[in-house]
Amino acid sequence: MIRLAQETAEDWWEVEALYDLCFAPGREALSSYRLREGVPPVAPLCLIARDAGGILAAAIRYWPVQVGGAQALLLGPIAVHPTRQGEGLGAALIRESVERARALGFARVMLVGDAPYYSRFGFARLDGVEMPPPTNPDRVLGIELTPGAWDGVAGEVTRANA
Ligand SMILES: CC(C)(COP(=O)(O)OP(=O)(O)OC[C@H]1O[C@@H](n2cnc3c(N)ncnc32)[C@H](O)[C@@H]1OP(=O)(O)O)[C@@H](O)C(=O)NCCC(=O)NCCS
Repeated sequence: MIRLAQETAEDWWEVEALYDLCFAPGREALSSYRLREGVPPVAPLCLIARDAGGILAAAIRYWPVQVGGAQALLLGPIAVHPTRQGEGLGAALIRESVERARALGFARVMLVGDAPYYSRFGFARLDGVEMPPPTNPDRVLGIELTPGAWDGVAGEVTRANA
């Protein structure tokens, strides 16, 4: 049995440890972290999954960003513990958080990741949306939560409070 819940302040360092386990050392050197520094995450969309024993199995966080001046959500990091990968936890966290974002009235979500994985949730390449370098443009993906939400939205991705 897996239980999804909103991340609390008490979960923060446990989630950080899971990310350290799942990503290569130096993950915080990635350009996406420059967009997160000093900006609070979008708390209602940061979810954790715990198993019946209370062990942290997966986590997802979101940050606000701007794209050419328009508001957007940056999905990530998302990670599933290596012993729990391939069980659908990543899919469950993405689907649940995207639905929560839609219900909260957010218009658009973007991320930097593998299109072969995220396309199953409706994410597609965002032409003209520029992450800070070095980022492969093929990995810049987005999904609209309201019809046409990405139409005409392009330019540099910047910090939400920039
Ligand atoms: C990527 C990740 C979040 C996926 O979560 P998960 O719970 O393991 O995945 P799910 O159970 O939802 O989906 C499994 C399916 O996704 C596929 N998949 C997983 N990672 C993939 C990737 N990077 N590219 C393409 N397909 C991928 C699996 O092959 C499997 O395919 P199948 O359904 O045809 O069998 C997880 O594997 C993980 O934490 N990886 C390490 C950290 C990471 O890379 N995070 C994402 C950074 S963009």
